[in-house]
Amino acid sequence: MKQSIFILNGPNLNMLGKREPGIYGATTLSDIEALCRAEADALGCEIVFRQSNHEGDLVSWIQEAGEQKALVLINPAAYTHTSIALHDAIRAASVTLVEVHLSNIHAREPFRHHSYISSLAKGVICGFGVDGYVMGLRALIKLAASK
Ligand code: DQA
Repeated sequence: MKQSIFILNGPNLNMLGKREPGIYGATTLSDIEALCRAEADALGCEIVFRQSNHEGDLVSWIQEAGEQKALVLINPAAYTHTSIALHDAIRAASVTLVEVHLSNIHAREPFRHHSYISSLAKGVICGFGVDGYVMGLRALIKLAASK
């Protein structure tokens, strides 16, 4: 059976392409999904790619990933900096998770410097734009292979 990876995207990432292109680039979320699907084919894994503007959806999807023993690549977007609910969900599901951000959150406003997710992540990738998603998928597959 193929390894399954949930790729979860938080609020406002449905606006990519139109949203602050100087920071997030011109790539849309559909473009990122296509990139991830191509990479998943190359890596021989299957992906579930989702986005929501609602915190509870992300909580439920993390729980679902845990039940399915799927790995998780997550861009929690603004919930990175606010969500104890996502932190708790990741702890409870004990999923293997990589956190990704398009921008370098540490080079931006101070309120973006703290993440409620990072302490539970195997690793954090930020500042490499859409390439970060590909890096994250590769990292997760490597982690799974080394278990
Ligand atoms: C983001 C960074 C967050 O601070 C921000 O709230 C986002 C996107 C990124 O991918 O760079 O919505 O997660």
